[in-house]
Amino acid sequence: MLEIRKENENDYAEVYSVIKMAFMTAEHSAGNEQDLVVNLRKSRNFIPELSLVAIQDNKIVGYILFTKIRIGEYEELALAPLGILPKYQNQGIGKKLIEEGHQIAKKLGYHYSIVLGSQNYYSKVGYVPASQYGIKAPFEVPNENYMAIKLNDTDVEITGIVKYAKEFGI
Ligand SMILES: CC(C)(COP(=O)(O)OP(=O)(O)OC[C@H]1O[C@@H](n2cnc3c(N)ncnc32)[C@H](O)[C@@H]1OP(=O)(O)O)[C@@H](O)C(=O)NCCC(=O)NCCS
Repeated sequence: MLEIRKENENDYAEVYSVIKMAFMTAEHSAGNEQDLVVNLRKSRNFIPELSLVAIQDNKIVGYILFTKIRIGEYEELALAPLGILPKYQNQGIGKKLIEEGHQIAKKLGYHYSIVLGSQNYYSKVGYVPASQYGIKAPFEVPNENYMAIKLNDTDVEITGIVKYAKEFGI
């Protein structure tokens, strides 16, 4: 049975190796996603409730993190990274981690989550090109790979160029 729960300090070492192994198989990888997580945990943009692990067979098999970004005046979310151990990929675990994260993010009152990744994958969980909402990346990226999902309705326009935590090095 798959369990999804908030990460705690005892998980850090295992999460490090899960992300490292997941991204070894990735089509696009900066090669340091596991270190990005270590740095983001120390950032003021870290949200402990949105650092989630997936447990199966008594071990951590997947990890997802959403951290704070700014879009104009608003504090919203970036999904990065998401990694599933190679042996456990394509079994719906990534999707469940994303959906659980979205539920928590909704309750916390965020309006948008942004992701840079495969349009084929993230469109399955509701992401559309961020440009449809007037949200832009602070770097050059193909339109279809910079995506957003609206989590909560808002009366105000949240548009503009995304500002990332300095830990992303953008
Ligand atoms: C990409 C990743 C997070 C997906 O998680 P997952 O648990 O394996 O995937 P799910 O079971 O939720 O979804 C499976 C579906 O996504 C598709 N999919 C899986 N990986 C994909 C990828 N890299 N690009 C596009 N589609 C992908 C599968 O073909 C499958 O499609 P179907 O439902 O039409 O059959 C996982 O494979 C992974 O950790 N990959 C390595 C690290 C990585 O690339 N992270 C994402 C960075 S954007």
